[in-house]
Amino acid sequence: MIDHLTTLALILALIHFGTPLTYYWYAKTKWLKKPWNIKTDKNYKPNITIIIPTYNEATLIKDKLENLRTQNYPKDKIKVIVVDSASKDNTTEIVEKYAKKHPDINLKLLREPVRTGKAHALNLALKHAKGDIVFIADVDAKWPKNALSEAVKWFADPKVGAVSCLKKPVGSKIRDTEESYRQYYNILRVAESKAYATPIFHGELAAFRKELLKKVGGFPTNIGADDSHTATKIALLGFRAIVPEDLCIEEVIPNEGYFWWRVRRAQHLIQHFIKTLKEVRSYKVAGEFKKILALEFFLHVINPWLLLAPILLLAVTMAMFSSPFAVSIIMLGLMLLGIKRYRTWVTQQLYLIAAALRNLRSKEIVWSKQAK
Ligand code: GDD
Ligand code: MN
Repeated sequence: MIDHLTTLALILALIHFGTPLTYYWYAKTKWLKKPWNIKTDKNYKPNITIIIPTYNEATLIKDKLENLRTQNYPKDKIKVIVVDSASKDNTTEIVEKYAKKHPDINLKLLREPVRTGKAHALNLALKHAKGDIVFIADVDAKWPKNALSEAVKWFADPKVGAVSCLKKPVGSKIRDTEESYRQYYNILRVAESKAYATPIFHGELAAFRKELLKKVGGFPTNIGADDSHTATKIALLGFRAIVPEDLCIEEVIPNEGYFWWRVRRAQHLIQHFIKTLKEVRSYKVAGEFKKILALEFFLHVINPWLLLAPILLLAVTMAMFSSPFAVSIIMLGLMLLGIKRYRTWVTQQLYLIAAALRNLRSKEIVWSKQAK
């Protein structure tokens, strides 16, 4: 009995750690080296719209507008829309002042009287979007000067429906954990993109072909990860949704409330993968993308529980039968926490478990702001 329980715990743990490691290895060796099979064109410069969603962004909005104004992309081809959802600070006044001071940029401010979430605001802005490509630009992300041109060049190929970025965390004490998690993540994003498409996008820089945005009915307002879900639907329609390896933006990590920040993002990803699972049947999915969706669903929705289950099983065996075998495995698990990568991984699983539980209570479509 004791041995059975311990063996079961070990098997579950093996699946828990083995699946992501195998997937990572597979993605790195099979997909990452593949050519893109996309014809980019650096001279392709269509009209574009950049949407900046804001809620209480008075401290950062000016820097973000400045960040966009200094992009090396023809100014007369850019329309910027700031869509604000009833900020309680002076975000909108700052935007108005900035627009007056810089008549050279085509800047429009939209105000929602009530805050009902980011996706809702994006959909309002979408009605005013001009040009072929729509960018989403979160306020707290800093784009390199060439971000627009680097992202747009991929759209020269009609196969490409959406483009996003890699993220580099900056400006916090907890930067270390965030960074080692990003390394693993970024490699997967690029590898999946080369295979076909990645189902995880980042609102810090997410670009979509406008006609496809309209085709999928805009951004979903009943889940949180609007950017990832929209990209996934575009990929399901048969277009590439990619994150190129050399498009990296800086993201400010909150100083306080880091735990809940990570939990909320995890909540949104879980919502996205569950919604995708429900919708996927009505599409004919490209082969590699099927694998990617299945794996990412497993990693976000199921796998975290395969870590919790053995821990509970071992704890029970330890308490009820004082099994030395179970004790030594638990000790080993605890000792391994000294290794950064392992610790980062385990913490991420805790976020996902907390997120799944929290999703039962609230979807966090409207979230509270973390201090940066
Ligand atoms: N208009 C509007 N209305 N904008 C909002 C709202 C809202 O209700 N809530 C947040 N925003 C804006 C913020 O001002 C910011 O520019 C952007 O949306 C992202 O919000 P953050 O507070 O910075 O959240 P984050 O960095 O954790 O968000 C990440 O995860 C989200 C999903 O959980 C990003 O990747 C987002 O793009 C993503 O949607
Ligand atoms: Mn943010």
